[in-house]
Amino acid sequence: TSFDLMICNADIATASDRFKCDIGIRHGKIAALGLELGEAAETIDASGLLVLPGGIDAHCHLDQPMPHGLRMADDFASGTRSAACGGTTTVIPFAAQTKGGSLQAAVDDYHNRAAGKAAIDYAFHLIVTDPTPEVLQNELPRLIQEGYTSFKIYMTYDDLKLNDHEILKVLDVARTHDALVMIHAENSDCITWLTERLASQGHTAPKFHAISRPMAVEREATHRAITFSELAGVPILIVHVSGREAIEQIRWAHGRGLRIYAETCPQYLFLTEQDLDADGYQGAKCICSPPPRDKQNQEAVWNGLAHNVFSIFSSDHAAFRYDDPQGKKFKGKEQAFQYIPNGIPGLETRLPLLFSGGVMTGRIDIHQFVALTATNPAKMYGLYPRKGSIMVGADADIALWDTKRRVVIDNGILHHNVDYTPYQGMEVQGWPILTLSRGKVVSREFSFLGNSGAGEFLPCAKPMV
Ligand code: URP
Ligand code: ZN
Ligand code: ZN
Ligand code: ZN
Repeated sequence: TSFDLMICNADIATASDRFKCDIGIRHGKIAALGLELGEAAETIDASGLLVLPGGIDAHCHLDQPMPHGLRMADDFASGTRSAACGGTTTVIPFAAQTKGGSLQAAVDDYHNRAAGKAAIDYAFHLIVTDPTPEVLQNELPRLIQEGYTSFKIYMTYDDLKLNDHEILKVLDVARTHDALVMIHAENSDCITWLTERLASQGHTAPKFHAISRPMAVEREATHRAITFSELAGVPILIVHVSGREAIEQIRWAHGRGLRIYAETCPQYLFLTEQDLDADGYQGAKCICSPPPRDKQNQEAVWNGLAHNVFSIFSSDHAAFRYDDPQGKKFKGKEQAFQYIPNGIPGLETRLPLLFSGGVMTGRIDIHQFVALTATNPAKMYGLYPRKGSIMVGADADIALWDTKRRVVIDNGILHHNVDYTPYQGMEVQGWPILTLSRGKVVSREFSFLGNSGAGEFLPCAKPMV
């Protein structure tokens, strides 16, 4: 036989094209696209299904070491299992430097966490928290060369943030060595001051998380990040953009010809600050940063997606269990808002939510969907053309979508290790009912069929930005 697997009658959509043909897969790669390709050991009939490149979740946090007894809910086993069941075939989580530690130590530790556990392929972004001369002059340039070509920096969080001077120095390294810097843009001192004021007024409920990090705090930091990018002469990616005022800054930058890229996430389309005010302490389930905004801001984010303000749509999966002393109920009790760990789950629901709310409603077209969720992240993080599209020579990372399937999101159907989903009870239309990772079925009909350890590490080439 000539192929290991044939997907017959595929209605394929890529970031640019739509065509019907068969897909011949050999040794985990797409070996042929065409009609009457010949024999295969196995066939899958894709009649009636939409065939898309597997998703790339380019912003998720798996098994990231946490301070003071907190623990992320998902490691590489449960995180990639969940991703696979949601039509995602590549994840790019973060190897975070600890202050005082080396980047190499973070990379080594993170490889140990992934090895033997990941069910789909993975690359790493670095998180730079301590840009010492050694890191800037030696480690970072070397690691970029070795395939870690993107790194995140934070403008907030005491244990992660860089000051403006440090940010400029990191951007300069990115420019010299062709790396892409992802920036978490929120003004730390504003948040500290607002938090102190709320605390002194006796406010503790989860909803005050959103009040302590209003849009202005993100808008200001977004503008500052854009200014740094302009000064350093290097493109940047602003991650998890939450609403209108930050989008206005990005549009303004685009108008000036600056290379500012932007990412947004499902929580800014499907949640609002009202969800932080759910009964009792339940609002803690939706605490993430930046926080969800309001309906008008959701519309602004949809508009930004439709008009290509955004290049990437990621989950920012940073999951903590709710009823857990290492999670949202840290130390076994309800915490004041500023002590609740930030982050929500979203690996498995990312694609169905955008497909249903975006493609099915006509807000974005199928090609934008593929670009945002697979092709652009593959290009920007140096994984293209191996990942991110359906073409001859690419890895056979493919999701078969039933676009008629109506699914009520319930935590019971998800495969993460989290005891809730923020999207509980929402109905979506369209679900990836079969996912292939390098030609092997990893999920089918809401069941995980992959293997922990089958995922491979992907060194990244230079970003195409
Ligand atoms: O609240 C969030 N998003 N936590 C995850 C870390 C981050 O800033 O992306
Ligand atoms: Zn073979
Ligand atoms: Zn962030
Ligand atoms: Zn994040």
